[in-house]
Amino acid sequence: MRRISRAEKPLKFRYKEGEPLDLIKEFIKFYKPHRKIFILDISCALGIAAMDLIFPLLSRNILNMYIPDRNLRALIITAFVMLFLYLLRAVFNYVVHYWGHIVGVRIEYDMRKTLFDHLQTQDISFFDKSRTGQLMSRLVNDLNLITELAHHGPEDLFLSVIMLSGSFIILLNIEWRLTLILFAFIPFMFYFTLKKSMQMRKKFREVRERIAAVNSQIENSISGIRVSKAFTNEDYEQEKFNEGNMTFRISRSNAFKTMAEFYSGINLYMNFLTLIAISFGGYFVFSGRISYGDLLAFILYTNFFMEPLKRLTNFTEQFQNGMSGFERFREMMSVTPKIQDPPEARELVNVAGNISFRNVSFSYESDQQNNILSHINIDIPAGKTVALVGPSGGGKTTLCHLIPRFYDVTEGEIFIDNNNIKDFTVKSLRKSIGLVQQSVFLFTGTIRENILYGKIDATDEEVIEAAKNASIHDFIASLPEGYETYVGERGVRLSGGQQQRLSIARVFLKNPPILILDEATSALDNATEIMIQRSLEKLSAGRTTLVIAHRLSTIKSADEIIVIDDKGIHERGTHDDLIKLNGIYCQLYNSQFKGFM
Ligand SMILES: Nc1ncnc2c1ncn2[C@@H]1O[C@H](COP(=O)(O)OP(=O)(O)O)[C@@H](O)[C@H]1O
Ligand SMILES: [Mg+2]
Repeated sequence: MRRISRAEKPLKFRYKEGEPLDLIKEFIKFYKPHRKIFILDISCALGIAAMDLIFPLLSRNILNMYIPDRNLRALIITAFVMLFLYLLRAVFNYVVHYWGHIVGVRIEYDMRKTLFDHLQTQDISFFDKSRTGQLMSRLVNDLNLITELAHHGPEDLFLSVIMLSGSFIILLNIEWRLTLILFAFIPFMFYFTLKKSMQMRKKFREVRERIAAVNSQIENSISGIRVSKAFTNEDYEQEKFNEGNMTFRISRSNAFKTMAEFYSGINLYMNFLTLIAISFGGYFVFSGRISYGDLLAFILYTNFFMEPLKRLTNFTEQFQNGMSGFERFREMMSVTPKIQDPPEARELVNVAGNISFRNVSFSYESDQQNNILSHINIDIPAGKTVALVGPSGGGKTTLCHLIPRFYDVTEGEIFIDNNNIKDFTVKSLRKSIGLVQQSVFLFTGTIRENILYGKIDATDEEVIEAAKNASIHDFIASLPEGYETYVGERGVRLSGGQQQRLSIARVFLKNPPILILDEATSALDNATEIMIQRSLEKLSAGRTTLVIAHRLSTIKSADEIIVIDDKGIHERGTHDDLIKLNGIYCQLYNSQFKGFM
C-alpha cells in the first residue's frame, strides 16, 4: 500500500503532469528515421572528445620520458601518431559539421512537412482564430529553434560531459590535490557563462524587436509622406522617428555592454585558471609531487576547459528554447479537425442538386448562446435559383458556408438529394459545390495556374474554354505573355472585375452541379457589375444556385427570394409575390430602384 501511494506522488523534477520527460521522449522519435547518420555524428563527436583528451597526455609523455631518456625514436613515433590523430580529427570534424547538420536539416524538413500537412487539414474555424504571423512563426522560427537543439543538443551535452569528466579523471590520477583546486572554480565559471549568455540573448532579442519597430516606423512614415507634407507635420514625424531610433540605440548599447562583460569575464576566468595551474602547479613541482610534464598536462587541460563550458551553456539555452518550441509544435499537432469524413463515408456523385435546410441553427461559439441562424428551413429544388436578401451581418454568408461544411450546423440537418451532407466525404461534397465570393484570392503564379485551381489536371483547351465562358479570354490574350502572365504581389495588377472573372473561370472549369454566389459583384462598379452578371447567369444555367446579391435588380428572376436577418426568415416568395406583399423586400427594392434613377 505504502509503495503505491509513494509512486503516485508526482516527482519534483517533473513539473506539470510529467511533461518534460514525455516531451523529450516524443522529441527523440524524430531522430528515428535518421538514426544511422545521427549515430555516426555522435560517434565522431565522441572521437573528437577522446582525442582532445589524449593530446595533453602525449605531450606529457614527451616531456616526462622521451626527452629525459633522449629517446628520439619514441619522440618521432609520437609525432607521427599525433599527425595521424590530427588528420583523423579533421575527418571527424568534417562529419560532425556536415552530417550533424544534415540530421538537423532532415528533422526540420520532417517536422515542417508534418506541421504544414496538419495545417492543411484544419477546419476553417481554426484559421478564424489563428493569426497568419503566428502560424508562420510556428513553421519557421520555432522549427529553427527545435532543429538547433536536435543537432547541437546531444553533441554539446556528450562532448562537454566527456571532456570535463575525462580531464577530471586523468588529472586526478596525476595529482588529485591540484585537480581539486582547479575544478573548484569550474562551477563558478559555468554559472557566470550561463548567466551572462542568457542576459546577452535577452538583450539581443530586444535589439531585434527595436530594429523591427524602427523599420515599420520608417515604412509607415514614408508611405504616409504625402499626408505628413499636406499637414506640414514633418517635424512631428521626425520626433516620432527619433524616439524609436533612440530606444534602438540604447538597447543596442546595452547589449554590447553585456557582451563586453561576457567576454572580458570569461577571459579573466581563463587567465585566472592558467595562473592557478602555473603557480600552484609550480609549487607542486618545487615540492617534487609532479614533474614538468605533469605541469604541462595541467596547463594544456586547463586551456581547453572553456570549450566544454561553452558547449554546456549552449546546451542549456538551446534546450530551453528548443523544448518550448517543440511544446508549441506538439500543441498545434494535437489540434484535430472536427469536420472529418464519417466512418462509412460515401462519395457524392451524380448530383441532381436538391438542397434542403431542415431546422438549421448555427452559432460560431460552441455555447449556442448567440445563434447566427435559428431554425432555418429552405428548399432549393435541383436546377433552381434561390436568392437570399437581408441586412449585412444577418448570416447570409454563414448560411452559404454550411453547405460545403466549412462549419457544421449546430442543430438541424442539411440534405443534398435527400442525403445528409455529413454522410458524404468532405472532398466529394466540396467538389460538387462552386463558390464565387466578393473577395477574390489569386495565388502568386500565372493566370493559367490560377484558373487551373478549379481543376488542377485540366487541359489548355479547357482552360481557354473556361476563360471564354467567363469573358476574360480576350483580355488575357491581349497581354504580352497571355496565360503565362504573372499575377499576385509582383505580377500585373488586375482590376476587381478582371479578378472576379478569373474566379468565375475557375468555377466554370470546376463545373460543379451546385453554385453559390455570395455577393460576387458587390465590390464592383455598376457597369462592370452588369457585364459580370451575364457571365454569372451563364454559369448558373443548369445548376442549383444559391445567390446573395446586394443590388436587388440582379436577383429579380430568382425562383424564390428569401429575406433573412439575425432573427430568421421574414419573407419568402418570387419577386412579384414580395412586391405585392409590400413588406421589407418591397421597401428595399423601391429604395434601391430610386437610387438608380
Ligand atoms: N468566422 C466567424 N467567427 C465568428 N463570428 C462570425 C464569423 N463570421 C461571421 N461572424 C458573425 O456572424 C454574423 C453573420 O455574419 P455573415 O454571415 O458574414 O453575415 P452576412 O453575410 O449576412 O453579412 C455576424 O454577426 C458576424 O460578426
Ligand atoms: Mg456576407
